[in-house]
Parts: sequence; structure tokens; C-alpha cells
Amino acid sequence: MGRYDYPSTSFLTVVFFLFCFCPMVFSLLPQNQTETMNNLSKNLPPTIPWSGSDPCAWKGVSCDPANSSVVGISLSGFSLPSSDFLPLVCQIETLEHLDVSKNRLSSIPDGFITECGKIKGLKLLNFSVNKLGGVLPTFHGFDALESLDMSFNVMGGNIGLEIDGLVSLKSLNLTFNGFNGSLPTKLGKSLVLEHLLLSNNTFDGKIPDELLSYENLTWIDLKNNKLSQSIPINIGKLSKLETLILSTNSLTGEIPTSLVNITKLSRFAASENRFTGSIPSGITKYLTSLDLSYNNLSGAIPEDLLSPPQLQVVDLSSNTINGSLPRKVSPKLFWLRLGSNQLSGNIPSDAFVGVHNLTYLELDNNILTGSIPAELGSCRSLALLNLAQNRLSGVLPQQLGNLTNLQGLLLQFNNLNGTIPTQIGQLPRLLTLNLSRNSLSGSIPSEITNLGELNFLYLQGNNLSGSIPISIANLSRLLVLQLGENHLRGVIPNMPLNLLVSLNLSSNLFSGPIPSFYGLNSLEVLDLSNNSFSGHIPDYLISMPSLTRLILSNNPLLSGEIPKFSNNVNVEYFGTGLKNNTEQDNRNSNTESEKNGISLAVSILITIVVAIFLAGLVTLLVVSVSHLYYTICVQTTN
Ligand SMILES: *[C@@H]1O[C@H](CO)[C@@H](O)[C@H](O)[C@H]1NC(C)=O
Ligand SMILES: *[C@@H]1O[C@H](CO)[C@@H](O)[C@H](O)[C@H]1NC(C)=O
Ligand SMILES: *[C@@H]1O[C@H](CO)[C@@H](O)[C@H](O)[C@H]1NC(C)=O
Ligand SMILES: *[C@@H]1O[C@H](CO)[C@@H](O)[C@H](O)[C@H]1NC(C)=O
Ligand SMILES: *[C@@H]1O[C@H](CO)[C@@H](O)[C@H](O)[C@H]1NC(C)=O
Ligand SMILES: *[C@@H]1O[C@H](CO)[C@@H](O)[C@H](O)[C@H]1NC(C)=O
Ligand SMILES: *[C@@H]1O[C@H](CO)[C@@H](O)[C@H](O)[C@H]1NC(C)=O
Ligand SMILES: *[C@@H]1O[C@H](CO)[C@@H](O)[C@H](O)[C@H]1NC(C)=O
Ligand SMILES: *[C@@H]1O[C@H](CO)[C@@H](O)[C@H](O)[C@H]1NC(C)=O
Ligand SMILES: *[C@@H]1O[C@H](CO)[C@@H](O)[C@H](O)[C@H]1NC(C)=O
Ligand SMILES: *[C@@H]1O[C@H](CO)[C@@H](O)[C@H](O)[C@H]1NC(C)=O
Ligand SMILES: *[C@@H]1O[C@H](CO)[C@@H](O)[C@H](O)[C@H]1NC(C)=O
Repeated sequence: MGRYDYPSTSFLTVVFFLFCFCPMVFSLLPQNQTETMNNLSKNLPPTIPWSGSDPCAWKGVSCDPANSSVVGISLSGFSLPSSDFLPLVCQIETLEHLDVSKNRLSSIPDGFITECGKIKGLKLLNFSVNKLGGVLPTFHGFDALESLDMSFNVMGGNIGLEIDGLVSLKSLNLTFNGFNGSLPTKLGKSLVLEHLLLSNNTFDGKIPDELLSYENLTWIDLKNNKLSQSIPINIGKLSKLETLILSTNSLTGEIPTSLVNITKLSRFAASENRFTGSIPSGITKYLTSLDLSYNNLSGAIPEDLLSPPQLQVVDLSSNTINGSLPRKVSPKLFWLRLGSNQLSGNIPSDAFVGVHNLTYLELDNNILTGSIPAELGSCRSLALLNLAQNRLSGVLPQQLGNLTNLQGLLLQFNNLNGTIPTQIGQLPRLLTLNLSRNSLSGSIPSEITNLGELNFLYLQGNNLSGSIPISIANLSRLLVLQLGENHLRGVIPNMPLNLLVSLNLSSNLFSGPIPSFYGLNSLEVLDLSNNSFSGHIPDYLISMPSLTRLILSNNPLLSGEIPKFSNNVNVEYFGTGLKNNTEQDNRNSNTESEKNGISLAVSILITIVVAIFLAGLVTLLVVSVSHLYYTICVQTTN
């Protein structure tokens, strides 16, 4: 009121501060803003580090270059429990940015909408990561608001006209809420919207044609909703679109060919829907990333699909795509997943030559024939090579030993023959080696025991002969060793201690007494069935602390009494000479079957826990590579 009536007092104050408190900075803000900021600070919990005479120096407060007005307030990540302070903020008429993300705000006071709506220059409101509930407030005013972020809250209900009055709105982010009903189509009368992020809600119905009026849209993310019906056929009208994400909905129909015309489109993801028909030719002409996995797409892969030179990621896995693999591949290709389709023919030998960034190659679960091209050895970035479940034949090329970044080599369920090349031992990062269910012969090369990181080794179901390499104990990180269904024989060497969880030597030609597995403290499953082991069950087996399943079936030469194992060990001894003489007299059959039931349940439970643990490890591998994927592919497209 009378604040400005006494300029001399202000002047004296300035002089006083200048001479007596020289090091202390004082505010250049108009007095009413300084006062509002001080009042605001009093309304906030004491944990907010706002003190000192110059609000422009407070953490999270930004001022214009002359320090003559407050333009930004960020109170992000303070766990603020109450939004009562918000209307006060609206007294800062010069405010342009307000960020109250990452707090525990549960409502927006009416006073905030009416008062802040009057601020002429307010451009950004960030309420993301709070606990806001209820429906979206109706925004009046806010003429300059360009960016509204209310993502990661618990809001719900339909969206009608609430934001249509935001005539400057360029970015709307309502990701991860509970909004439902049809997708909103009134997104600012002046149609200047550029970013529309509505993922992780429960919107249903079709993608409305009205969205195509927002011709400035560059980013649409509708992932993880309940959208159905087809994509508007003329979506190609959105000529500025760079990112289109429609994954995890129930969309049907064909992929519209008009998408091919969007020259700016860099990332198109529509996985986990019910799209049918074939993949439009030319779809990847401008793309860096295409994800159409988990749909019902059919037909052949267009011959030009993989060749555009900017292309980095293609995922068409889990469709019913047939025909052969394209012969020309982008030199920038980073991730190619074509697994679980009906692709046939050979893996073209020259397609992958010089594709130095190829990190993920998954062609598993198709009907590919012919041999594994030695040229794959030139894809030196490969971290995962998954060709499992095909009809590949011929020998394993020794050039695979050049793939020194390989973490997963999955070739199981094919018709591969010949020996395991010693060069496999040159893969220092390998975590999983699965060559099971092929026709590999010869002995297990001792070089394989150089794979110091190996967690999973699956060689079962081949024609491997000879004995287990004596140095197998070097695989000190091994969790699972599957050597069953081969022609292995001879002395069983010491096994890697500590980590080994599952050891399967079943259906081989092993003979003699059960060897010492002493010290395998993590071993849960030991399968020695279908061999010619003889003699008694060694006593130390009963003290293996983690054992839940001991499978000795079909070793006719095993004899003697089964020692008393703890209740959670399930011993299978069908087809042996073993006898169970455990005192039968002092228990009736009822409690016995009960006990067996419990012990089986316990062992199943433990097996499940182990399985989850193992799955976790595999996920870790996948996650670390996906992280790489996001760093390289998503961030560069942003
Ligand atoms: C604050 O002071 C400025 C002049 O310094 C004036 O333009 C503005 O209207 C005042 N605001 C309020 C809320 O009084
Ligand atoms: C600051 O708070 C005081 C006391 O509540 C009040 O009298 C004054 O008007 C407030 N000033 C502003 C600028 O809001
Ligand atoms: C504005 O205030 C900040 C924080 O106190 C200070 O670092 C900066 O030098 C000031 N700028 C001007 C032009 O006074
Ligand atoms: C809002 O805040 C969150 C969390 O601090 C941040 O990740 C996000 O980028 C912000 N949104 C906008 C539009 O700046
Ligand atoms: C919401 O979307 C905007 C626009 O793309 C983005 O800048 C912002 O970071 C997003 N918010 C969060 C919390 O990710
Ligand atoms: C789209 O953006 C351009 C350039 O930023 C702008 O001139 C135009 O008014 C915007 N709106 C529409 C509807 O095209
Ligand atoms: C969206 O929800 C799905 C599952 O409902 C979840 O897996 C995903 O992480 C969520 N996305 C984000 C960005 O939180
Ligand atoms: C793509 O653009 C060309 C030229 O503008 C046009 O003739 C053609 O019909 C468009 N194709 C689709 C599928 O929209
Ligand atoms: C391979 O990726 C790296 C970054 O990961 C990039 O710098 C390089 O240019 C890419 N090479 C090709 C041929 O795309
Ligand atoms: C690839 O492997 C082969 C056979 O193991 C070897 O002769 C060749 O030198 C390797 N090439 C490179 C580039 O390492
Ligand atoms: C592998 O199988 C093919 C037939 O598929 C046969 O011609 C070849 O001799 C076999 N090679 C070895 C080493 O057994
Ligand atoms: C042996 O018999 C006892 C009692 O009949 C039973 O509890 C135990 O589970 C049996 N052991 C095996 C290995 O079947």
C-alpha cells in the first residue's frame, strides 16, 4: 500500500546495507516479489533451503538476467506433502516456469488455477511424480502455457474440454495415470500441439481422426492403453512426426502405408497389438527404429526393409512372417530381432559382413536351413547371437571365436554337426553357451574351460564323446551344467564349487562309483540317471546343504540302502538296486504321504526360487543390453 511512499527510507536502507553488510548480497527484486518469496518460504516446510535476503540466490529460484524478477521456481523432490502454498506462487506475476515434480502433492487448489491462469508469461507447469488424484482440472487462462506435465500421478476419468483453452500448448504429458474413455481430441484450440504423451493409462476406443488436425505433432506416445480398431489410414498427414509409439494396445488392421511418406519419422513402435497383413514396403526408408514385434503380421519381409543406411533397430519377432531373409543390411544396424516367425531359406552369407555395430541378432524359432555363415565372425560387436530352434546344419564356424563381445551364444535345437571348435574358448565375456539338441560329436574341448564368466553351459542332447575336461572346475561362475544325453564316459573331474546349482550327467556312459561332489554347497539338482554307476550312495550326499533333487534312476548297478536324507530332498531311484529301509514301523501311511507331499512341495518351492534367481540373472543380461539400446537408439532419436 504505502510501500513506495517513502523512497528515502528505501535509499537509506540501501546505503545501510552497502556500508555495514558489504559482503551480503541484497535483492534487486521489486519489494513486493521479495515479500511474496519470503511469505512463500514461510509457508514451506523448514527443509526447503530458502533463506538469505536475495531470493534470486535461493536454490531452485531463477530470475531474469537483471535479477529484477523471478521467472522460475523449482521445488522438485522435496517430498512436499501439501499444495496449500501453491496459490501464493501465483502472486509472482513474472513467473514462466513452475516445477513441483517429485513431491507428495495430492491436489491442486482451485485458487491456483484461477490465480496462476492470469499470469501472462507462464510457459511450463510440472506436476509430474506426485499423488494427484481426481479428474483433470479445467484450465482457464494460461494463455502462454506451452508445456503441461502431469505424468506419474493417480488422476483418472475422461478428458473432454479441460485443456482445450490452452492456446499455446505444445507439450502434454499425462503418462502413467488412470485416465480412461476415448483419447482426448480437444488439445488446445489453436492446434499447436507438438508432443502428446498419454502412455500407461486406460484409454480405449479408436485413435481418433481428429488427432490428425494437430499437424505440428512430432511425438505421439500412446503405449500401454486399451486402444482398438485400426490406425487412421491417413496418419501420413502428420508430416512432422518423428516418434510414433503405439505399443501394447489392441489395435487391429494393417500398418497404414501412408506412414511411408513421413520423411521425419525416426522411431515407429507398434509391438504387442493385433496388426495383420504384410509389412508395407519402404516403411523403414527414413526410420532408425522399427518395432512391430508380437503382432499377427504375415507375408514376406520386404527386400528393402533392412537396407536403409540410417536404420539401427528392427524387431519383427513373434509374428507369422514367412519367406527368406533380406540380403542387404544397413551398416548401422544395432539390433535385429526376427525370432518366432516362419522364415525359411539360408542365412545369407554376405548380408552381415561389415555390420560392425550389430549387437543383438536373434533369428531363433524359424525354419532357417543351411549352415551358419562364417562371415558372422566379422560382426565384432555381437553380444547375443540367437539362432536356436531352426533347421541349421553343417559345422560350427571357428570364426565365431572372433566375437569377443559375445555374452550369449544360443544355437540349441538345430542339426549342427562336427565338433565344437576350440575357438569357442576365446569368448571372454560369454555368460550362456547353449549348443544342446544338435548332432555335435567329438569331445568337449578343454578350451571351453577358459570361459571364466560362463554361468550356463548346455551341451545336452548331442553325440559328444570322451570325458569331461579335467579343468572344468575353472568355470568358477557356473550355475548350470547340462551334459546329459551324450556318450560321455570316464572319470568325472572335480566340479566348480560354490555356485553350481544344477548338474546333469544323465544318459551317458559313466560308470564306477558315484564320484565325490563334496563341497558343492549350492547344488540343488543332481541328475545321474541312465548311466552305469555302481556301488552305494556316498554318505556325504546327505549333508549337501542345498540338495533338493537327487536323480539316480536307471543305474542298475547301484545297490545298498538309501541313507536318511532330510525331508526336502527328493530321491528318485527307480531302476536301481537301491533299497529304502528307513524305519517303516513307527509311522502310518497317512502321515507319510503327508510328509512326502510337504517335502515335495518344499523342493518345488526351492526349485522355483532358484528358477527366479536364474531368470533374474538372464534379465540382468537383457537389461544391460537394453540399456545400451536405449542409450544408443532412443536418446539419439530424441
Ligand atoms: C509488484 O510491483 C510491481 C512494480 O514494481 C507492480 O508492477 C506489480 O503490479 C506489483 N504486484 C503486486 C501483486 O502488487
Ligand atoms: C506477506 O504476508 C503478510 C502477513 O501474512 C501479509 O500481510 C502480506 O500482504 C504478504 N505479502 C505478500 C506480497 O503477499
Ligand atoms: C543475479 O543473482 C545471482 C544469484 O544471487 C547472481 O549469481 C548473479 O550474479 C546476479 N546477476 C546480476 C546481473 O546481478
Ligand atoms: C518434470 O519433472 C520431471 C521430474 O523432475 C522431469 O523428468 C521432467 O522432464 C519434467 N518435465 C518437463 C516437461 O520438463
Ligand atoms: C513428459 O513429456 C515431456 C515432453 O516429451 C518430456 O519433456 C518430459 O520429460 C516428460 N516427463 C517425464 C516425467 O518424463
Ligand atoms: C505449427 O508450427 C508452425 C511453426 O512453428 C507455426 O507457424 C504454426 O502456426 C503451427 N500451427 C499449425 C496449426 O500449423
Ligand atoms: C507402464 O506400465 C507397464 C506395466 O503396466 C510397466 O511395465 C511400464 O514400466 C510402465 N511404463 C512406465 C514408463 O512406467
Ligand atoms: C505419399 O505421398 C505422395 C506424394 O505426396 C502421394 O502421391 C502418395 O499418395 C502418398 N502415399 C500415401 C500412401 O499416402
Ligand atoms: C556404431 O555405434 C557407435 C556408437 O555406439 C557410433 O559412434 C558409430 O558411428 C556406429 N557405427 C556405424 C557404422 O554406424
Ligand atoms: C577370425 O577367426 C579366424 C579363425 O579362427 C582367424 O583365422 C582370423 O584371423 C580371425 N579374424 C579376425 C579379424 O580376428
Ligand atoms: C554334417 O552333416 C552333413 C549332412 O547334413 C554331412 O554332409 C557332413 O559330412 C556332416 N559333417 C560331419 C563333420 O559330420
Ligand atoms: C523311504 O521311506 C521313507 C519311509 O517309508 C520315506 O519317508 C522316504 O521318503 C523314502 N525315501 C525315498 C528316497 O523314497
